[in-house]
Amino acid sequence: MRRLLVTGGAGFIGSNFVRMVLSQHRDAFIVNLDKLTYAGNLENLGEYLKHPNHKFIHGDICDGALIKKIFDEYKVDTVLNFAAESHVDRSILGPKVFIETNITGTLTLLEAARNRNIHRFVQISTDEVYGSLGADGKFTEDTPVNPSSPYSASKAAADHLVKAFGHTWGLKYNITRCSNNYGPYQFPEKMIPLMINNAMNNKELPIYGDGLYVRDWLYVYDHCTAIWKVLTEAAASELYNIGGGGEKTNLEVVEAILQRLGKPKSLIKHVTDRPGHDRRYATDTTKITKKLNWHPTVSFEEGLGKTIDWYLENKQWLANVVSGEYQRYYHSMYADR
Ligand code: NAD
Ligand code: DAU
Repeated sequence: MRRLLVTGGAGFIGSNFVRMVLSQHRDAFIVNLDKLTYAGNLENLGEYLKHPNHKFIHGDICDGALIKKIFDEYKVDTVLNFAAESHVDRSILGPKVFIETNITGTLTLLEAARNRNIHRFVQISTDEVYGSLGADGKFTEDTPVNPSSPYSASKAAADHLVKAFGHTWGLKYNITRCSNNYGPYQFPEKMIPLMINNAMNNKELPIYGDGLYVRDWLYVYDHCTAIWKVLTEAAASELYNIGGGGEKTNLEVVEAILQRLGKPKSLIKHVTDRPGHDRRYATDTTKITKKLNWHPTVSFEEGLGKTIDWYLENKQWLANVVSGEYQRYYHSMYADR
């Protein structure tokens, strides 16, 4: 039996990963540690919350005593660190919590893992650590790290710490750097669910700047299968990029959402740009394709359709998450833009 500590497993990608593992891999027991910040939501786990191979623990990855207790009590042999403050715009509003969770939290997990000879420490990182691309080229695993936002700087720092623990103490680790995810259970502060929610409610769709910024979109299920492949098949100390080959401008994405929902383009409103906005991301996935035979299975068109259908079918989930704190956040981010 694999004994996994999944952190941030009540968030968007973490909960999709927990669902995938529990439904497909009977030989895995998951301890799911999540602080339940605004982005963490037990509803994301549904019936899996009570799955016999799943134990949810409400807590903070910065809490060293708690982490030590979890390692001892549950005989953890693998860590998958999804927990993070994950939204670039919030890191511009207030970077401090990003430093605490993304750097100090990762350090706390590494400290607990290093003496225990665990099977693997998988750090879920991001292509944003590479910074921005011009019109051509893609990020490879050898692209120098050059982060632009407080969020991506904190993720890059965490990656460096993971590598340093491998180099210094022989910790067996992997780092994955994925492009933009979308799919069910994504909090509607991120572009795709925010635009779907606004379009469903006939609200303006706030496009930053000229809308010609490019992201490489990957359906969340495909990210989860890639992480599982890395965990189970990659050699220790290997770093893998993950991406969908789904480069789109933000305007293309938003127009596709409007078309699918039968809403007019007049809902699009160009607003003040994000400070320091990275122009383009594109991920070269040759390494994971060749070495681990991983391929995305869901095209952007199919994935966007599935995602929109999910939000249409889960209006109560959406209503619950946009109440309270979300209203204050939305107002502070968009009211005077
Ligand atoms: P998310 O914001 O939806 O979820 C983050 C989860 O972490 C939440 O459940 C939250 O409660 C939990 N959390 C936050 N601080 C914590 C703490 N101190 N202790 C314990 N739990 C804490 O994020 P996501 O989009 O699911 O991203 C998950 C991971 O994947 C992050 O590390 C992120 O950097 C990375 N990533 C995200 C994307 C993307 O497009 N969303 C792409 C590549 C990589
Ligand atoms: O590349 C991986 C990263 O992708 C992850 O590491 C991050 O956790 C994740 O949040 C995401 O970062 P982005 O900044 O690319 O995602 P976001 O959804 O915030 O924005 C996508 C694009 O849409 C970006 O160019 C900014 C733009 N945008 C976003 C919002 C929220 C808008 O034009 N309007 C908006 O209201």
